[in-house]
Amino acid sequence: MVQKFVFGQPVDTEAVVNTRNVKTQEYIKPGKEGKLPHFSVKWGEKGEIILSCRMGGADIVYGLGENVRGINKRGWLYESNCSDDPNHSEEKRSLYGAHNFFILDGQRAGGSGHRFGVFADAAQKVTFDCGYTDSEELTVTAAEGGFVLYLLEDGSLREIVKDFRQLTGPSYLPPRWAFGYGQSRWGYQTADEVREIVRRHREGGLPLDSVYLDIDYMERYKDFTVDEEKFPDFPEFVKEMKAEHIHLVPIIDAGVKIEEGYPVYEEGLKNGYFCRREDGREFTGGVWPGRVHFPDVLNEEARKWFGDWYRVLLDQGIEGFWNDMNEPALFYEEEHLKEAQRKLSGADVDSMDIWGFFDFKGTALGIANRPEDYARMYHDMDGRKVCHERVHNLYGYYMTRAAAEAFERLRPDRRILMFSRSSCVGAHRYGGIWTGDNQSWWSHILLNLQMLPGLNMCGFLYCGADLGGFGSNTSEDLLLRWLELGIFTPLMRNHSALDTRPQEAYRFGRQEDFRNILRLRYGLLPYLYSEFMKAALNDGMLFQPLSFVYPEDGFAPRVEDQLMVGESLMIAPVYRQNAEGRYVYLPEEMKLYRFRSLDSMDVEILPAGHHYVNAALNEVLVFVRPDHLAPLSYGGEYAAAVDSSRLQLLHFIKTEAVYELYDDDGYTKHVELEGNMTKISVDQTGDITVKGARQPDCRLL
Ligand code: GLC
Repeated sequence: MVQKFVFGQPVDTEAVVNTRNVKTQEYIKPGKEGKLPHFSVKWGEKGEIILSCRMGGADIVYGLGENVRGINKRGWLYESNCSDDPNHSEEKRSLYGAHNFFILDGQRAGGSGHRFGVFADAAQKVTFDCGYTDSEELTVTAAEGGFVLYLLEDGSLREIVKDFRQLTGPSYLPPRWAFGYGQSRWGYQTADEVREIVRRHREGGLPLDSVYLDIDYMERYKDFTVDEEKFPDFPEFVKEMKAEHIHLVPIIDAGVKIEEGYPVYEEGLKNGYFCRREDGREFTGGVWPGRVHFPDVLNEEARKWFGDWYRVLLDQGIEGFWNDMNEPALFYEEEHLKEAQRKLSGADVDSMDIWGFFDFKGTALGIANRPEDYARMYHDMDGRKVCHERVHNLYGYYMTRAAAEAFERLRPDRRILMFSRSSCVGAHRYGGIWTGDNQSWWSHILLNLQMLPGLNMCGFLYCGADLGGFGSNTSEDLLLRWLELGIFTPLMRNHSALDTRPQEAYRFGRQEDFRNILRLRYGLLPYLYSEFMKAALNDGMLFQPLSFVYPEDGFAPRVEDQLMVGESLMIAPVYRQNAEGRYVYLPEEMKLYRFRSLDSMDVEILPAGHHYVNAALNEVLVFVRPDHLAPLSYGGEYAAAVDSSRLQLLHFIKTEAVYELYDDDGYTKHVELEGNMTKISVDQTGDITVKGARQPDCRLL
């Protein structure tokens, strides 16, 4: 059952697209209490809405998507306020996304007895105090302006997620090649450099499907331009790469460079498509191109205009993009930069005391991403002038929407790869996300794992982290271990920052191990694609916490470093340096495949319970549930080379196992399950039966 409560006069985020199951609807006027199950209502002095509910000692909070800390969000205060913050450390409250859906699960010993989901549908800042201020209280606070609360009750954790996902619409579908391995780095300067990257992968037998182009491919960081000197005859180069089965994926930034003669700038200015200041002049910020204006993607006409610009690259053969800096990131706001400069140059450093010094330093360090600067920006939403502060969390979502709506117009029959840095619930229908500027830290492998179920709950199925770490210097073992998790994430991209240690797989000594791990990904591709598509088309999750699959298991909710991947597999990656294994909890008996490569592995059956499992640096642990199967291919140098007509089955048969394999052409847009399913069954004697859409030749592994 879904109940809807409208507080004040919220902006319509268009996150919710299907209200079929919404049973009741109540309007709560500012200052009024309203009657809500579970929550008490208070209005703050600034018009904020404060909802509080008591939690039992053992209640768990799942969800909230892209955020720091564990799978259980309890004990910290999270804030949805899309932020360009490259330090994903524990004390952070907000990263790049606004993923305002969580489930409070108190249906376990010591719990409150309640289980319900909450979606805080808001365009502005919302905080989720999950027992930080008072360990037994959960408080949701939406900043002034009103918001809509959806309360989802009844059912298991998975059913509540499904109800939420039906409310907010189907997840974005990428093309199948986007499940291949991608190599990226900020700083690939020329076409020759890209050729070299491809050559080194191919020569080393390291499978690869895409190379990402960061801001360096553009002319002075201007969106929709290509630097002709560094990338001469770009359409020909795109074609040459395609002949090698490589997709080039360029970045698009939110800010449009202010430069006379640059058509994106001139058109935007002429038509009034940029965000403005209160006095009506264009809002000017500073990002990579220098001074920029921001396209007003919240305005329908401007959104269409900006989206149509993607055509310039589509027409040159490009089939995928990543949208960046769309919180939007503000290195500075022009007016404030001048104010800061005046203040700093007026400071008398000779007579400055230590507090004066800190003020001086704070002024310099506090120039970027200031709330006061966002408050100076305005949108034109259907003729209404709306302060950016009120709709901040929609910007990245609507930039992605601009692109996706354009793809629908320009390439109606093709899936185009699109993922974004900033997002909000709703954006999951238009693209995937990557989780931004992480670091080459061991703790960030675990963070990557812990974010995945929360992202999936919120509809972001196509997602992944910068493997190997974006900031800081990576190490060979870190990259290997990270890839051992990364081979399971739909977006599998190695990306790093300018001036960090190069981290392409061919840079390190253990070439055979890198080759094997990447080949294993291509082996897993039929299973991952099938499980991804089924999750997307059924409003389900690809990555689930153990407790979602084993609701009766008392220990499963405590497991914070293992995940269920699809319906058959469980993973337990190693995320500590120099570890030669790890503790693993099995809620039931499972079969462990310890892969060294697609052709070399140990297999053992482990009973339910706690185990210390060895995992050398070149070994990947894959656990198969009883009476389950997972198809593996024989690998391939790129996704299109994976032969799905010949499969090997990971299996743990006790009585009989049936696997429903989904497959399609990999690019058709409007797909359905029916007609694309093949049923593979294996009985106790090992006999295999295949029925349905395709007839792959299967053998047991
Ligand atoms: C941002 C992005 C990062 C990119 C860099 C340069 O920091 O998050 O991925 O490499 O900008 O474009």
